Amino acid sequence: MVYFRRFLYIATLLVFLLTGFLTLYYGKETFHFSGGTVPSSTTSNYHIVLIPEELDNDYWRLVEQGAHDAAQFHNVYLEYLGPKQANNDEHVKTIDMAIAGLVDGIITQGLGEEEFERLVTKAKEKLIPVVTIDTDAPNSDRAVYVGTDNYYAGFLAGKAMMNDTAGPQQVGIITGRHDAPHQKLRVQGFKDAVATEKRIKIIAIEESTITEIGAVEAAHKIVKEHPQVTAFYGTSALDGIGIAQVVKDLKAEDNLYIIAFDILPETLAYMEEGTIEATVVQFPYQMGYEAVERIIQLKKGDKLNPLQHTDTKVIYKEDLPISPAAMGGGQLP
Ligand code: BGC
Repeated sequence: MVYFRRFLYIATLLVFLLTGFLTLYYGKETFHFSGGTVPSSTTSNYHIVLIPEELDNDYWRLVEQGAHDAAQFHNVYLEYLGPKQANNDEHVKTIDMAIAGLVDGIITQGLGEEEFERLVTKAKEKLIPVVTIDTDAPNSDRAVYVGTDNYYAGFLAGKAMMNDTAGPQQVGIITGRHDAPHQKLRVQGFKDAVATEKRIKIIAIEESTITEIGAVEAAHKIVKEHPQVTAFYGTSALDGIGIAQVVKDLKAEDNLYIIAFDILPETLAYMEEGTIEATVVQFPYQMGYEAVERIIQLKKGDKLNPLQHTDTKVIYKEDLPISPAAMGGGQLP
């Protein structure tokens, strides 16, 4: 028994050491550039890693564009790395590898997880500043947050629905991920805004897993289980698009009010044709651009205001078309 315990102890220790070694090794291999592997980096001032919720999401591509333009302007070497599809485990692993690679700064979406907080502290100890974008993690050791005030944005959505509708409303909410802090804030802000308005009732909240198909399925589910639904609120960039598809399929555009989030081209097209009534604007390009500049300032030792909210507002069909410049720059290819 004693031998077995000792064996178990040694085996655990070996696995632990091996995992640590691999993280360090692959972190260095992936992130630590030498003149030979990444020629442009030899002359760069800093090496920064940007970690989105999901690499190929159009919203995050705009964040990347902003960060890329700032990086070019300031001669910074920028890497855009992270989960292919939203996944917290992969997300924190990427942060860990960036730390192991001793990058100069990390820009990341904030997560509401202990492991995330532990890694941000680890980065800080190694003098790697972390800037959260899009979603804050105020309890972590992140240096600065650049992004929307998500509670306020949700509140604006609620106020808009109050102003734009008349009579009793049965509202279905489709949210990106139930456990994502910014999505929770957008739902809470909305709930608080409509709380005093007795005629507005939230009847269902479903998750889209931030995919368009997920939003379509969630909207179908709500329509099936609550045929009395009269209005929808989508709290992440692809939710409104999924809702609009379902509402159009049902030919219910005239009877259902939709308020979406973000101004991706499909959302604007649905607004032009009148399927989506309103949308909450965010400035992802600006978030990316400013986050790079904040890292540079932090590296220089500047003291910064930790909360740097980008603007947010609700727009309607009458506000279209909108130029990328008016929306803080950035355009999808
Ligand atoms: C959110 C992002 C999210 C995206 C998903 C946006 O509204 O701010 O965090 O990844 O929607 O499509």
